[in-house]
Amino acid sequence: MSRKPVVLITGANGEVGHGLIHALADSGRYDIVALDLRELDSAIAPRCVDTVVGDILDENLLGRLATEYEISTIFHLAALLSTRAEYNPEQAHRVNVEGTLSLLRMAVEEGRSRGTWVKFLFPSSIAAYGLPDLETKRQAGRVAEHEWNTPTTMYGCNKLYCESLGRYYSQHYRRLAPQSAPGGVDFRCVRFPGLISAFTVPSGGTSDYLPEMIHAAARGEAYPCFVREDTRITFMAMPDAIRALLGLMEAPADALTSRVYNVGAFSPTAGEFAEHVQRAFPGAEIRFAPDAPRQGIVDSWPEDVDDGRARHDWGHEPEYDLERALAEYLVPNIRKRYGCSKEGEVCMGE
Ligand code: SER
Repeated sequence: MSRKPVVLITGANGEVGHGLIHALADSGRYDIVALDLRELDSAIAPRCVDTVVGDILDENLLGRLATEYEISTIFHLAALLSTRAEYNPEQAHRVNVEGTLSLLRMAVEEGRSRGTWVKFLFPSSIAAYGLPDLETKRQAGRVAEHEWNTPTTMYGCNKLYCESLGRYYSQHYRRLAPQSAPGGVDFRCVRFPGLISAFTVPSGGTSDYLPEMIHAAARGEAYPCFVREDTRITFMAMPDAIRALLGLMEAPADALTSRVYNVGAFSPTAGEFAEHVQRAFPGAEIRFAPDAPRQGIVDSWPEDVDDGRARHDWGHEPEYDLERALAEYLVPNIRKRYGCSKEGEVCMGE
């Protein structure tokens, strides 16, 4: 029997899962159980004590995991992202909402049966916001957590509702039942901006234009960007996203004044980012070919977020602004990934 706390990660094969598994494994403090629909990537599988191929909607599977492991923390990352969810909203609801509900129930029951608090880390999103038009978006600037909670995508609706479920399961679950033993689920959530990783490319999201643009440039492929040049939303480099999840996990409960925190880092327009990409990969072919429906989704998301609460309560502080993210994280690692050797060289695919 292992003596390290067990951390369960759902959707472990995704972009956040990759970075998170490396960071948790590097710390040497946790045993990681990874769950995903697909077999876990061979780069991260050896870093886990168990890798389970299965569906979060399979209640028997969750029951088996709860019996087999004393789970101390859950990072529930599995979800259909915003573009994919628009093609199958009901499936998105099943995965994004019913899946979260099952995991929250598993966590609360685990916590109550052992008399402990199972931490439940949940990535929410800027998609939880919905600004009605561009003029309002410009005027709104940095939005705070309680503002513009009127999402226009299925994904955003799912995330916003799951935040409420997290609050309910943490604070009010079965509130009319006779007093139960202490323990339960301790839900903590970050509303992520668009994320950008040097090592993985997202799929099914609507903030994907930024990562797609720089990875395409490094591969020497032309990129038709699906939003206008002046489109602005907030982004964060993946290492800061991982640090945010770990920072929130480790924060003492009495320091937290909320269960939901904005986190932000930098907010370039698509055009500004393209200029940086062209400087790093001269000759990169980027053109703007807005796709009206996807543009509409991005236009409903805020230009920037007010993350003062996260900074105050648990010391959130991104290490990467745009310039540093490009110079020290994205460009060197992406160059290496696609085998570009010389500065400024545009290279072909893997
Ligand atoms: N990256 C997500 C998406 O585009 C938004 O948080 O769906």
